[in-house]
Formats: sequence, C-alpha cells, structure tokens
Amino acid sequence: MSSSTSTVTVDNKSVELPVKEGTIGPSVIDISKLYGQTGMFTYDPGFTSTAATESKITYIDGDKGILLYRGYPIDQLAEHGDFLETCYLLLYGELPTAAQKADFDYRVTRHTMVHDQMNRFFTGFRRDAHPMAIMVACVGALSAFYHDSTDISDPHQRMIASMRMIAKMPTLAAMAYKYSIGQPFVYPQNELDYTSNFLRMCFAVPAEDYKVNPVLSRALDRIFILHADHEQNASTSTVRLAGSSGANPFACIAAGIACLWGPAHGGANEAALKMLEEIGTPDRIPEYIAKAKDKNDPFRLMGFGHRVYKNYDPRARIMQKTTHEVLNELGIKDDPLLDVAVELEQIALKDDYFVEKKLYPNIDFYSGITLKAMGFPTSMFTVLFALARTVGWIAQWSEMIEDPSQRIGRPRQLYTGETERDYVTVAQRG
Ligand code: CMC
Repeated sequence: MSSSTSTVTVDNKSVELPVKEGTIGPSVIDISKLYGQTGMFTYDPGFTSTAATESKITYIDGDKGILLYRGYPIDQLAEHGDFLETCYLLLYGELPTAAQKADFDYRVTRHTMVHDQMNRFFTGFRRDAHPMAIMVACVGALSAFYHDSTDISDPHQRMIASMRMIAKMPTLAAMAYKYSIGQPFVYPQNELDYTSNFLRMCFAVPAEDYKVNPVLSRALDRIFILHADHEQNASTSTVRLAGSSGANPFACIAAGIACLWGPAHGGANEAALKMLEEIGTPDRIPEYIAKAKDKNDPFRLMGFGHRVYKNYDPRARIMQKTTHEVLNELGIKDDPLLDVAVELEQIALKDDYFVEKKLYPNIDFYSGITLKAMGFPTSMFTVLFALARTVGWIAQWSEMIEDPSQRIGRPRQLYTGETERDYVTVAQRG
C-alpha cells in the first residue's frame, strides 16, 4: 500500500495526514491521529464518506455497477460457480482446487445436523413467530451448545465455528419454516448438495418421497451466491463491531441477523413483494410512483435505490434472469406480480425523480417473486438472505480477528445535549 499525505487546516493549524491507497477504488485519508493533533473529531453519520476498515474480500464500484468477490466478477461466479465454492473463495481468498473443493464440501456437509436439544428452542416459540426472530435467537443459542468453538484466540476453534454456522444455517432456517407450518422437522440428507439439501429440508414431508428439482436448486444456489457478501454494509459492520469486543462468533452472527432484518436492508425483499401485491395491477403503478416521490409521504419504492450503487445493481440483472428461469421451469406463464414488477421498473427508470437520484432496482426487487414461485412464504425471504450472507459475515469477522492492528470499535459523537448542571431534589423542581 503506497502512501502520500493530505493537509487539513483546522483553526489556522495545518496537519499532515497520511493517504492510503487500495488496489482499486477510492484512497482514504487516515484520520486516526486527527483528534490527538487537533482536538476535533470527524462527523459522518451513516458513514457516507468513511472507510471503517481495510479489507481484501469484496469490492464494489457503485457508479459502474461492479461487484467482485476476491477479484472475481459476480456474474462469472453466478454463471459458472456454485455456492460452496463461493464460500471457500470468500473465506480463503482463492478458488479451491478440485481436491480442496471436495474436502470443503465434505467438511460442511458433516456439520449440517444441529444438537437435537435445539428442537426445544423452536417449540418455545408461537407458531406465528417471525422466522427472523427465531433465527436471531437460535443462532445466538448455538454458542450455548458448541463450547468447543467459542475461543476466538484459537484459529482451529474459529475454523470449526465457521464451518458449523455455514452448515447449520440451512438446517435452522428449514426448521423455522417447518415449525411455522406445523410440519415435522426434516433432518439433513448428506448425499445431497448444500442447496438441494436445504430445499428438501423445507419441502419434503415424511409421508412421501421428495425429488429435488435441479433447475430450482441451481437457481436458489445462484441466489445464495448473489447474497454471499457485500462489503461493509450495515449487518456486516454490525458483525465486525460486535466481534471487535471479543464476543463469540455465534453471538456476532446473531447480531448481524438482527441488523439484516430491517426493511432498509435485508427485509427489503419481503417489503418489495408486499408492495407488488399491494399495487396488484399495472394501472395502479402511477399512484405508487407519485407516493414514492411525495416528500410528505414516507412511502418508498421497495427494491429500489442503494447507498452504494448509483447504477443498475449487477446482482439485480442476474436475479431478473433467474426469475424468468424459475417461472419457466414451474410453467408459470402469466404472473401478475411479475407484470407489475416489469412495468414498474420501466416506468421508474424513465421518471425524472428516479433518474436524477440515480435510483435503480436492487437485488431485492426481483428476488421475492422468484422465492415466492419456489414456494417460500414472504416471511422466509430475509431468512434466506441471512443463510447466504452468513459466509460473508464470517469471512469479514475472521479477517478482522486475524488483523494484528484490530482494536475494539468505539465511535465518538458530537454532543448536543445539556451542559453540566446541578441535581435538584423532587421537592424543589417547579
Ligand atoms: N423510493 C423513493 N425515493 C427514494 C428511494 C426509494 N426506494 N430510495 C431513495 N430515495 C430518495 C430519498 O427520498 C432521498 O431523496 P432526497 O434526497 O430528496 O431526500 C434520496 O433518494 C436519497 O435517499 P437516502 O435515503 O438518503 O439514501 P440512502 O443511501 O441513505 O438509502 C436505501 C439507501 C437502500 C436505504 C434507500 O434507497 C431505500 O430505502 N430503498 C428502499 C429499501 C430497499 O430496497 N433496500 C434494499 C437495499 S439492497 C439490499 C440490502 O442492502 O440489504
């Protein structure tokens, strides 16, 4: 990393700050010594101009609509790779050789079962509990079951915890779904690949044989690849911040799941599908476009806009193609929701408001239609996102733990509250 400097003048005092360069993307001004030299903090709510960390995992060029995992374009990985290979790439930095891939797949597969006592956690929830609430609780609870992989100073334990989470997320997610519909849990079947196994755990019943549809399995695997990592987004930053205190990995991933749940983040796929259902028919689109543009109306077009992408989200393109593949495979010729989505996209992309603000469809715009067609209820959409993002969270968490310069994350603030004042007893308060 080569470096130059940048000069900042504060109260007529000039301070030289190092500038660090990455391999691609914007350079950063290292302000870590700024407070010591000037007595001032920087102010950037929402982190719009702040790099919170150095990372080698994922790169996004939001203006050009580029997403790279360890340097590989997302469309190439989605087209040619599979999800577990992508997991290996994110965790270890390189695509696996055939032998490494076989070994990795084997290791993940051998961790798919969860402790049988976990079943009792599920039965403690109401049947109508949101599956994300169950996931936050159950993933956090894994730390109470796997004491032999919570010592974060031991690389072997970190590795085992990582494998466990990647392997057990589909099992837990499927259990959350099965519990919500009152069907018995289906145990993992190790001869199946990762995504086929997940589909079987969700949709098989003991009363009859279940045959995995390879087209749907491949489509879902691709959806998992698209969601696997996305740089320093809100949930990943949450995982890093939680991890910076030395919390165990299961607790950190549970924190990430909680953050992902919000409608501005992973909850947007659920919100986008609900919005399409609410719109119902293409003739009502102008009404919703007007609502989205109205400053006095909090309504936003869900599945539109992104903090980083000011161009078409590259994941949305692949997702759109996958939607058509899935609907074709299932023989769904006319899906009213797809009609609304396609037309809404066309209208919004031509509308001055959306053009000026560079608001394009994001990954969540089409994912809901696809997942619904596969048979998942809307409440499961964000769970599937969490399942796929787990590897990204783990890769980012591991990178942080292995960084020798890692310290606890501790943001500062601009205080605008009362200045010091004396306590007044209740009797004296007017
Ligand atoms: N519909 C209507 N207006 C919008 C939208 C939208 N979806 N998104 C942004 N805007 C407007 C917003 O009102 C603001 O206008 P103004 O400058 O006049 O106040 C301007 O665009 C900038 O918006 P912002 O809220 O300052 O932008 P942000 O970077 O803080 O928010 C976002 C990014 C993704 C939260 C936002 O675009 C949004 O709420 N989108 C809908 C939810 C969504 O689809 N989220 C999924 C994101 S992708 C998956 C993921 O990350 O998990």
